[in-house]
Amino acid sequence: MLDSSGDGLRRMSRDLRAAASVLRDAKNIRVVTHIDADGITAGAIADMTLERMGKDHTVDFEKKITDEVIRSVNSWDGDVVWICDLGSGYLSEFDRDGLVITDHHVPDPKWRGRQMRLDSFGGLQHLNPHSYGYDGSFEVCGAGMTYLLSKELDPSNTDLAHLAVVGAVGDFQDSNHRRLVSLNRTILTDAVATGDVEIDDDLRYFGRDTRPINQYLQYSSDPVIPGLSDNPRGCLEFLDSLGIPAKEGSHWRTWSSLSEAERERASDRISELLGPESDQAFGEMYRITRYDRQTGLGDAKEFATVLNSCGRYDDAPTGLRVCHGDVDALRVAEENRAEHRKHISAALSYVRENHLLRERRFIQWFDAGSRIRETVVGIVAGMMLTSGDCRRNLPIIAFADSDDGVKVSARAGRDLVDRGLDLSSVMKTAAGLVGGFGGGHTVAAGATIPPERKEEFLDIVEDLVSSQLERRSRHPDGLSLA
Ligand code: C5P
Ligand code: C5P
Ligand code: ZN
Repeated sequence: MLDSSGDGLRRMSRDLRAAASVLRDAKNIRVVTHIDADGITAGAIADMTLERMGKDHTVDFEKKITDEVIRSVNSWDGDVVWICDLGSGYLSEFDRDGLVITDHHVPDPKWRGRQMRLDSFGGLQHLNPHSYGYDGSFEVCGAGMTYLLSKELDPSNTDLAHLAVVGAVGDFQDSNHRRLVSLNRTILTDAVATGDVEIDDDLRYFGRDTRPINQYLQYSSDPVIPGLSDNPRGCLEFLDSLGIPAKEGSHWRTWSSLSEAERERASDRISELLGPESDQAFGEMYRITRYDRQTGLGDAKEFATVLNSCGRYDDAPTGLRVCHGDVDALRVAEENRAEHRKHISAALSYVRENHLLRERRFIQWFDAGSRIRETVVGIVAGMMLTSGDCRRNLPIIAFADSDDGVKVSARAGRDLVDRGLDLSSVMKTAAGLVGGFGGGHTVAAGATIPPERKEEFLDIVEDLVSSQLERRSRHPDGLSLA
């Protein structure tokens, strides 16, 4: 985890100072950021930071780094391109002078030799936790790295820390410890100090502020609550047996709207139902204090979902406006969220009802064809993995058609990562071998490959997964990955 000598932190501070000075000297800046919740919050932090500095700038959103994006970054004739939540996996492709990257993806291994050359004329400011001894899958996200640079530029930018908290939660950085840790914790502390975030010890299921309480309980997964998950009648009987009214007048109540005594009673009973799994269900939740709960922005997880509902459906600019506190944008975002909910639910049913999930010895996979958006198939794969629909102890690989080939999303449980699995390197290597490209994090990664090479790709992925897991089981004291 944390570099015990403090050397990593010192190097990071030095690099943050250097990147801040490049931005201060720039007359015009083009921000390029990712379309998911982490990318949108990162873009919003960069946008507001530059706005406050009076810098001429634009913000562009990208689904992924493609050859076209690389060409456009390299050939832009302004002073500095600032790439957020993207870029590290493709470092060796950039050759422009004036490039700042605040990202957390596993860096491109080909880049090291080139780094010396780029550094020698100060062209590249690369700020990535992996360079400083931190793991970008849970210690800090793209918005977090962007925030650290924003704070370096002006210490009063701590009022943007809550956006980095939303970005981290959007990337599931709190899932492993059921709280934010390490650099994310430092950022959280800033957000708490400004009064923008309150930390609640609570049940960690999704939708505590906006889901009707019966659905909140019914849709609980990871861990599944015996008798309540997937059991609408069981949920109503549960509330009834505890003397908790499910409705107030004609309106369904929410988990957050229960009185403290009601919530405690329900939590105790849920804890009993969960038995030894109870610890997994409770932990920290983050309240974003500047928004009312019913807006769906009052809880970090729900806020992140609002942003994903925009960015993953070609409407990232609305997400950006939401981060700025634009109330009109919230109305549009609300429609986006309803569509997102429908798409996810239809996608899960489609995979289940058509029995698309296939099992191999070391992996499981499904092909959604054109029925699930390429930007959402990863969310669906992750939900399948945690919902009890498939085996927790195998990585899941999902395919969806995309304009430039087939999109691949891969997800795995943290226990497999602890046993040596690194999906980022699996995706990068396997995609490279079939003429595609890929990358990401140890627990969640993706790729784009030519459609006719899916089978071959799966064979390679399976070989790589099995050899990573076998290598570790033969050398149990080998390299520690996280
Ligand atoms: O591109 P970026 O790094 O922002 O995206 C990370 C992705 O990994 C998110 O879509 C997040 O949902 C996923 N993830 C996951 N499980 C984890 C960590 C990340 O599904 N434990
Ligand atoms: O799209 P999906 O949510 O499955 O992506 C999982 C992770 O893999 C994200 O962090 C994404 O940025 C990364 N990824 C990548 N290169 C790709 C596709 C995805 O680095 N070609
Ligand atoms: Zn991210």
